[in-house]
Amino acid sequence: LQKRKEKKEKRKSRFLKLKPPATQGPCNTSKPSMLDFVNKAKWDAWKSLGSVSQEEARQQYVDLISSLVGTEAPAVAAQPTGSTKGFQTLLVSTEDNITTIRLNRPEKKNAITVEMYNELIEALDLAGKDDSVITVITGSGDYYCSGNDLNNFTKIPEGGVEKLAKESGELLRRYVKVYIDFPKPLIGVINGPAVGVSVTLLGLFDVVYATEKATFHTPFSQLGQSPEGCSSYLFPKIMGAAKASEMLLFNKKLTAAQACEVGLVTEVFPESSFQSEVWTRLKAYAKLPRNSLALSKQLIRVVEKEKLHAVNDAEVERLVERWLSDECMQAIMSFFQAKSKL
Ligand code: COA
Repeated sequence: LQKRKEKKEKRKSRFLKLKPPATQGPCNTSKPSMLDFVNKAKWDAWKSLGSVSQEEARQQYVDLISSLVGTEAPAVAAQPTGSTKGFQTLLVSTEDNITTIRLNRPEKKNAITVEMYNELIEALDLAGKDDSVITVITGSGDYYCSGNDLNNFTKIPEGGVEKLAKESGELLRRYVKVYIDFPKPLIGVINGPAVGVSVTLLGLFDVVYATEKATFHTPFSQLGQSPEGCSSYLFPKIMGAAKASEMLLFNKKLTAAQACEVGLVTEVFPESSFQSEVWTRLKAYAKLPRNSLALSKQLIRVVEKEKLHAVNDAEVERLVERWLSDECMQAIMSFFQAKSKL
């Protein structure tokens, strides 16, 4: 009992010592009386900090609490708010504590090329470490995203289709991994139709807002392929096995209202007020304490993380086989043949 008491006292004193001082700079007020316990404790804590700044003390406090709850401390600011980095296929900006990643190939319905996959990985990596509170992914133009750019399958390297399939699998694995590990709230602002991988990944977002004109379509079997983005595990969990099978096996396209009903979408907004309503709400969310949000999101995710990585590995393995199948090659050829007939 004595040992436990000592341990508790030790923790308490570490806690008090690191609690951020209400005032900045070295302690410069007179010592409170011995009987004024609360103010005496605060004065002692402040005094013991010497000239540690309020910001430094706050960070030490966050690190201590993170170590006590046993989760990683959320990444500290690597990029100041308001900074932008130039990408070829994305528009990325940070404003009002929100980092927005906008898919920016509207003329191709934001289909995801190899370059775009790599840029998304980098943009998400930076967003996870910057000092924004939440991260948003949305699309430019009338589509949210038309999924994997089917041209990715036509650029065959010297090692042949096997090499292409293997490299594409590795890229997809890395891409999905960033979503599994993303350390702060990730919000989807679905501005129009979504296809393929842009739909399957929604199970890894924290909140998904959609305009009423959005649709959700995963035509994998039509293309001789198989699901990715952890959807083979998360979709049945979110919407039940039968509804997930209608989407993932039988290519059922959902309206925004249907996607909301099954729990893939959080809320649907009228097209006319979609942008203003959603951004007003997001700006309010982004005023909440950054570390509290990040740590809470990590708590929600941590129980499933290992499982999700295993699902990602299994899905990629199956897809690499599928990409090399006749069924898939025929389907992709049909897409380009249909295009050339137009
Ligand atoms: N891969 C490659 N190119 C794509 C694409 C994709 N996933 N999605 C759209 N594009 C291209 C179109 O080929 C077209 O290119 P072009 O202007 O050079 O002809 C351009 O984007 C505009 O698309 P278009 O087909 O003219 O628009 P639409 O409104 O008639 O149809 C889609 C939009 C998304 C329904 C249609 O393009 C489509 O079915 N794309 C394939 C979607 C898909 O199967 N994704 C993979 C899922 S696993």
